[in-house]
Amino acid sequence: MTQKCILDDKRKGGCASCLPQCAHRIAMNGLNGEGGRVGAAGLPKEYRHLTLTNSPAREGQSDIYASLERYAATFGGDNVKSVYLWSESPGTGKTTTAASLANEFIARSYIEALRKGEQPAQVLAVYMDANEFQSRYNLAALTNDEDAMKRIGTNIKRMQAAPFAVIDDLGVRGSTEAFTSYLHAIINHRVVNGKPTVFTSNVPIEDLADVFTPRLYDRIRDQNGVIHFKGTSKRGRR
Ligand SMILES: Nc1ncnc2c1ncn2[C@@H]1O[C@H](COP(=O)(O)OP(=O)(O)OP(=O)(O)O)[C@@H](O)[C@H]1O
Ligand SMILES: [Mg+2]
Repeated sequence: MTQKCILDDKRKGGCASCLPQCAHRIAMNGLNGEGGRVGAAGLPKEYRHLTLTNSPAREGQSDIYASLERYAATFGGDNVKSVYLWSESPGTGKTTTAASLANEFIARSYIEALRKGEQPAQVLAVYMDANEFQSRYNLAALTNDEDAMKRIGTNIKRMQAAPFAVIDDLGVRGSTEAFTSYLHAIINHRVVNGKPTVFTSNVPIEDLADVFTPRLYDRIRDQNGVIHFKGTSKRGRR
């Protein structure tokens, strides 16, 4: 077993004894390691194998991770809350933790569906980098690129429909009116349909009323647990 599988800590004895063609690993990562349900989530490569168990951000944050374990235990239930992970400093483990939660959601939903004799959905979680999304939108608008706009529309619908979503780096820079309205379309749809979202940000949640609009801020804080990451950047350690 050379490829890391997010089901490793869910299986007695781990994945060490699994065959390379393990059907569940293929369901998670595809045959080539780039597909499957983890691939469909679109997490950046370096965050793709993370779970709450193997996350490097656990170190020194046992209180936060204990409460996130309790949070993850609600996955699969009807009333899963959203969370807002934030810190003033960069590099404190917010994206690492958000990716771990997305993978926990995928692993737990997959196992739960099999347990019930159901077919697990192909898209269980999706990831969006809010900054990258805004840049892509600005460029498409500037260059009148209809194909790029269509892809953005498809992305928005995917973000609305997914059972679980990560919106990374929210509020890092000012938002245009058009971008705010797209973000509103995604978040409002998710809130109205009771779908959980993990947000990460470098600003306190209250500041979102100014970065975006009071209405969008109101939607984001609906059923949302705020978690503050302390300390300075851990980037480049190890
Ligand atoms: N507690 C920790 N101990 C050791 N390494 C950590 C810890 N938290 C995060 N890291 C490592 O630090 C790097 C940065 O983590 P991450 O990308 O999650 O930070 P972030 O809070 O999202 O930063 P940014 O605000 O810049 O987006 C990663 O390589 C991650 O593995
Ligand atoms: Mg980050």
